[in-house]
Amino acid sequence: MKLSPVPLVVLALPLLCPRLSMAQTQAAPPAAPAPAAPQQDEEKKTELGKRMDRVGKAFRKLRKQVADPAQNESSLQLIATMQAAAKEALQFNPAKADDLPADQRPKFDEDFRAGVNQLLDKLSALKDTVAAGKNDEAAKMVADIIDFEKKEHKEFRRPEKD
Ligand code: HEM
Repeated sequence: MKLSPVPLVVLALPLLCPRLSMAQTQAAPPAAPAPAAPQQDEEKKTELGKRMDRVGKAFRKLRKQVADPAQNESSLQLIATMQAAAKEALQFNPAKADDLPADQRPKFDEDFRAGVNQLLDKLSALKDTVAAGKNDEAAKMVADIIDFEKKEHKEFRRPEKD
């Protein structure tokens, strides 16, 4: 049987010009990746959670540097960020309030606000201590705020689901 010249050329294409034939036969590029996880988390967060996130991020940095007098200017800025976010947090109620019987909610929300105000008092005292250059004392105050945070979270945050 005689083969027509056209199919022969097509068959020989990978040998004659491998790059061209690869480009023609390669699968389409993979689809764009899904949006980054942090963005999705941000959408899921409550308004209070977003403020707490700001408090948490500034506090993580502050914990590492509070004992270092050379970083006091930056530490004061981090404390100011925490204060601003904690003040905003006073406008909201914890998500856990929705899980409680209606008659318990007002006291729960009031206690939550008292807790945030206590945090604001602690941050104000911390600010004065850092501004005075008493870094050892400031480091102890930060340790106390860590304990306080744990206690308040146990009371006011929704228990984590598995
Ligand atoms: C330095 C002290 C504190 C830090 C660093 C901190 C940090 C955080 C962080 C990182 C979250 C998770 C946010 C998210 O991703 O959704 C959170 C949630 C929360 N925190 Fe704090 N927090 C502090 C103090 C407090 C205090 C004093 C209270 C209450 C009086 C409180 C009540 C809550 C509540 C209720 C939530 C859950 C959010 C919701 O229910 O919508 N936190 N906190």
